[in-house]
Amino acid sequence: MLDYTLKKSLIDTTNLIHQYSDQHDGLNLKEIINIINNLEKHYDARYLNDIACILFEALYIRYRDVCYCQKQEQFFCSELGKALTSQRKQIWHDTYGVPPLNFILKSTNLIKLLVDIFNPQFNADLFYRSVTQDIIESASLNKLTDSIPSEPAEHSGFVPTHNQQGYMTTTLDYFSKSFACSSSKSKDRARLLEIGAAYGIASLEALRNGSTVIANDIDPIHLAIMANKASKEHHCNLQTVTGIFPEELEFPENYFDGALICRVMHFFTAQRIIDSLKILRKVIKPSGKIYIVNETPYLANWSSFIPEYNARKSQGIKWPGIITNPEQYCSSRAGQLPSLVHWLDQDTLLQALSEAGFVDSEVEEMKYINRAGQFPQDILMPSEGRESIGCCITKIK
Ligand SMILES: C[S@@+](CC[C@H](N)C(=O)[O-])C[C@H]1O[C@@H](n2cnc3c(N)ncnc32)[C@H](O)[C@@H]1O
Repeated sequence: MLDYTLKKSLIDTTNLIHQYSDQHDGLNLKEIINIINNLEKHYDARYLNDIACILFEALYIRYRDVCYCQKQEQFFCSELGKALTSQRKQIWHDTYGVPPLNFILKSTNLIKLLVDIFNPQFNADLFYRSVTQDIIESASLNKLTDSIPSEPAEHSGFVPTHNQQGYMTTTLDYFSKSFACSSSKSKDRARLLEIGAAYGIASLEALRNGSTVIANDIDPIHLAIMANKASKEHHCNLQTVTGIFPEELEFPENYFDGALICRVMHFFTAQRIIDSLKILRKVIKPSGKIYIVNETPYLANWSSFIPEYNARKSQGIKWPGIITNPEQYCSSRAGQLPSLVHWLDQDTLLQALSEAGFVDSEVEEMKYINRAGQFPQDILMPSEGRESIGCCITKIK
């Protein structure tokens, strides 16, 4: 039987789209309601809940990724975006507001297929022809490992991410190491959160050191590769959470002993950095620690930006490190980066922390990181020796 609350959520979602989207974007919502009401007539009972979830995800992704043309921040700020994200958090409330990794890996193709057929010609027959029992069965039986590529090769300490979101390092900096050693500092197993974990350089080390880790990333492939790399004895202590931080995720308050967000927030606007810090503050237990690492403008391949950065600072521009045309400054590596980068320094990191509600006494340590021996040679700026800025925060209450 189709779960009643799931069915209701799907119908509510369709009504929300009707209420908030412009002229319903040409999507035939009556037909979608019709499909929801007749799922049980068309599909084997074993698959009904999966199909309902796939249908929901396809609607969500259509609006998040397609209708907003990848401008996900605009989606999350819109009434429709807020309503759909809140529905999604209810549907997946047992897995921190997002679908579990196995579900995502198994159903990606079917979700893509639905997103493609959601157009003005969409109707129930097209749905039934596309979502056949065979397709559903084969999706459910898929061997997950078939679709997971191996981790890309490392070059001088960098591994390219699968989604052009920069690179993962192959060694841990001072703050990431501290995060990964959290359990060695306490008698109990620490519960840790890593945001933007990529293939797991820090999370896997934290697992080896005896922690329970909830590892998040946008890209399910990163997390699948990480899970494959984790040794069997650590599987029960690793949970992967695929989703866009901070908007899509829902963690309990005062839940984690420690959190790491390393080389991720420098892809965020100022407001999003502040929102992310507020959320991290909420989910960390009192006395828990938040480790933050970002890149600074003092990177050799971005040296043409430094004079502009200094000029912006002297003009009193509040967030001087925002760049919306990375290719203009760094043609060599811009292709592996998103369209917005936001280099931070000590002043702007402190400013973001303060706007997020942290007080000075919570900043246990903040320092620049010299990346010699960790970053490739073309990025290092030995005259500065401060390619990254990191800090450790201890939440007071
Ligand atoms: C530059 S890599 C850093 C990887 C690793 N933390 C490190 O320090 O080497 C950035 C990672 O953050 C992920 N990411 C970017 N934006 C994110 C977001 N809003 N929520 C979750 N993960 C995100 C990317 O998919 C990518 O894996």
